[in-house]
Amino acid sequence: MKKRAFSLFLLLLWAICPVFSQSLYPIIPKPLLLEPKEGSFILPPDPIIAVAGTDPMLRRLAEELANRIGRVTGKDTKVFAGNFRVKDGINFVMSKDHKLGEEGYFLEVTPKRIIITAEQPKGFFYGLQSLLQLMPTEIYGSVRAENIKWSVPCCYIEDRPRYAYRGLMLDVGRHFYPVAFIKKYIDLIALHKMNTFHWHLTDDQGWRIEIKKYPKLTQVGSQRKETMLGHYNDQKYDGKPYGGFYTQEEIKEVVNYAREHFVTVIPEIEMPGHASAALAAYPQYGNNPDKIYKVGTKWGVYDDVFAPKEETFRFLEEILTEVIDLFPSQYIHIGGDECPKNQWEESLFCQELIKKEGLKDAHDLQSYFIRRIDKFITSKGRKMIGWDEILEGGISPNATIMSWRGTEGGVLAAKQHHDAIMTPENFCYLDHYQVDAKTQPIAIGGLTPLEESYAYNPTSSNLTPDEAKHILGVQGNVWTEYMPTSDYVEYMAFPRAIALAEVGWTAQHLKNTEDFKKRLDIHKKRLDYLEVNYFGAPTNKKFRYQWPLKK
Ligand code: ACM
Repeated sequence: MKKRAFSLFLLLLWAICPVFSQSLYPIIPKPLLLEPKEGSFILPPDPIIAVAGTDPMLRRLAEELANRIGRVTGKDTKVFAGNFRVKDGINFVMSKDHKLGEEGYFLEVTPKRIIITAEQPKGFFYGLQSLLQLMPTEIYGSVRAENIKWSVPCCYIEDRPRYAYRGLMLDVGRHFYPVAFIKKYIDLIALHKMNTFHWHLTDDQGWRIEIKKYPKLTQVGSQRKETMLGHYNDQKYDGKPYGGFYTQEEIKEVVNYAREHFVTVIPEIEMPGHASAALAAYPQYGNNPDKIYKVGTKWGVYDDVFAPKEETFRFLEEILTEVIDLFPSQYIHIGGDECPKNQWEESLFCQELIKKEGLKDAHDLQSYFIRRIDKFITSKGRKMIGWDEILEGGISPNATIMSWRGTEGGVLAAKQHHDAIMTPENFCYLDHYQVDAKTQPIAIGGLTPLEESYAYNPTSSNLTPDEAKHILGVQGNVWTEYMPTSDYVEYMAFPRAIALAEVGWTAQHLKNTEDFKKRLDIHKKRLDYLEVNYFGAPTNKKFRYQWPLKK
């Protein structure tokens, strides 16, 4: 009875006192239910991790945990797998009885044992992330930590995400980052219980994915003459050739790595706009056969877009066929944003096509273009996703919308019973300034502070419960015009991406900005161990952010 009263007291403290909750249970994103309990589990001198069953993925997760505990605590940690009852120590128990879903888990910590229960390996992976976050932050280090009391506070957690889709995008067209960084980015996605890496692989300023059938896409399209320096308005260039691309072997390596971290990689191949780099390589698919197309050197939107000719569709379908073979993801992203129509309006071919197909105008032609691509992707057993411009002229039957120009696109899509992922600029564009621009290294513009990202509720109150089911989730977008290095990407993306991870995972009524910030303060120590150059990190000063032209 005494114990029960104490537990109730702790639960009350957890509910009403954010300071208490953050200090003992600093889990990000915040779980659905966390009941604090009395006491703690002290890691014994020879910890045991017992895996019930023979699932190889669970065994791998247990081995990784054992290696981490061994490395950081110096304790000899062993893994046992098989059919036995729970043991003293850390247990992974596969559940068949509960309705936890693919991503849910229970985590129970008592003075004698820790039990993670889930239905699927992904649920165990997330349970494991929460367990690590209940340990001293030193567990994230890469070397042995001395004089640490290795304990885990007792509690009971029931957890599963609010949304099925929780993503982070990276634009590698404007700047290119090595595979090692892409893996680190995936680590950070997984650490925060996000499950999707949206890889923006092509743009006017660079084509970054090897396509075997069209080698010039990378031979020509991945290289630009020079890069803008300073703000767009300065119109200055660095005069240095710039390039890079991922080979198909590297892509496979990244996709495999992501799978091991329970992250799906969605590739984006931009069309019909943002096509300058592709057209520099294969000008025959543009609207003007005499034009010399160039890989873009300045930021912004270009007029050079694909011509809606049969040969172009064949070209794009052959590219997409290779892309589909490389990426097992259900979704294939085809861009669809910011496609100027002036070349189509001036093209005799396009005007005749508009008449022949009974279309209204060049905007309708974009819809025709997207519908054809949708049909192709659907014929391959995949689903097309595109930016919200693909709503214009009537959305393709199977398409999912990524709502970026505010929330209206997503709301409209959901009302038409189409799935939508919410990435509205005001909350989700992590290339905006995060504090007063005058104090910051150069960024594209806008201002989206951490608190604003955190406050975002992706499900608009204008939707009925049935319509709301079409809001699949939320994503942070990292456009990289002004991010020449991976340090710079980390500086802009974190911690705002962490706020969005909680938006995607945690029920709206459980979110609390002050409580989040307190948990984040502790979480930043973990990010320090992981050498993440988040905004406000003690190591920020080591990095050079100022562009030569910063005034
Ligand atoms: C976009 O920001 N053009 C999707």
